[in-house]
Amino acid sequence: MIRLEQVTKLYPHRKEPALKQVSLKIPPGQFVYLTGPSGAGKTTLLRLLYGAELPSHGRVVVGGADLSRLAPGKLPLLRRRLGLVFQDFRLLPGRSVFENVALSLEVAGVARRTIERRVGEVLEQVKLGDMANAPADTLSGGEQQRVALARALAPGPDLILADEPTGNLDPDNALAMMRLLVGDYVGGATVLVATHDPTLLSLVRGARLVHLERGRLEEVG
Ligand SMILES: Nc1ncnc2c1ncn2[C@@H]1O[C@H](COP(=O)(O)OP(=O)(O)OP(=O)(O)O)[C@@H](O)[C@H]1O
Ligand SMILES: [Mg+2]
Repeated sequence: MIRLEQVTKLYPHRKEPALKQVSLKIPPGQFVYLTGPSGAGKTTLLRLLYGAELPSHGRVVVGGADLSRLAPGKLPLLRRRLGLVFQDFRLLPGRSVFENVALSLEVAGVARRTIERRVGEVLEQVKLGDMANAPADTLSGGEQQRVALARALAPGPDLILADEPTGNLDPDNALAMMRLLVGDYVGGATVLVATHDPTLLSLVRGARLVHLERGRLEEVG
């Protein structure tokens, strides 16, 4: 599903690479924590996986597509198979919860009736079924993050990339969020969660742990 081969990422005007010869294989359906201190390269690694950055050296393969060679026109197709969750939610403030979640399906050209059914379904999963019509910016942080997750899950992605998804949540909401990122909710998707919060790690038992330290990757367990 995911393969990084000897990936090095250099940013302009930086002496030290953000990633140094990183190799990583993640099979379909695996749950992986990506840990490491601030500046270690976690966000950079995720950005390479959704095509927001190109590697300076090495190969990035996601779902069979080599992202370092992908024609620019193919990127939107690939993105539809990805669900992205960020620390700062990134919801459209003036729009309702329903509209925020429906957006990813509308972009994909899904029929209106299917959209209505699917949005209802994922909002039930994240326990926001009765808030569908509320403007997204009137929700609490924990609720907004669940909308962001519903939006990521709605198209039934093969891969979910979450960058500090609990960074703005209190411990109770963080726990609720992590519970939604495992098990039946994600429908067998591969899940990669970047975090520098070690307390999160105990929340998903048996998860694979990979650690970045100044751009170098090590397997922890
Ligand atoms: N667009 C950019 N241009 C130049 N340097 C960058 C850019 N983005 C990241 N970096 C640098 O690359 C390194 C890794 O950054 P990255 O954001 O991947 O770390 P991180 O592990 O996600 O950190 P945090 O836990 O603080 O989010 C840092 O030294 C950072 O300053
Ligand atoms: Mg980061």
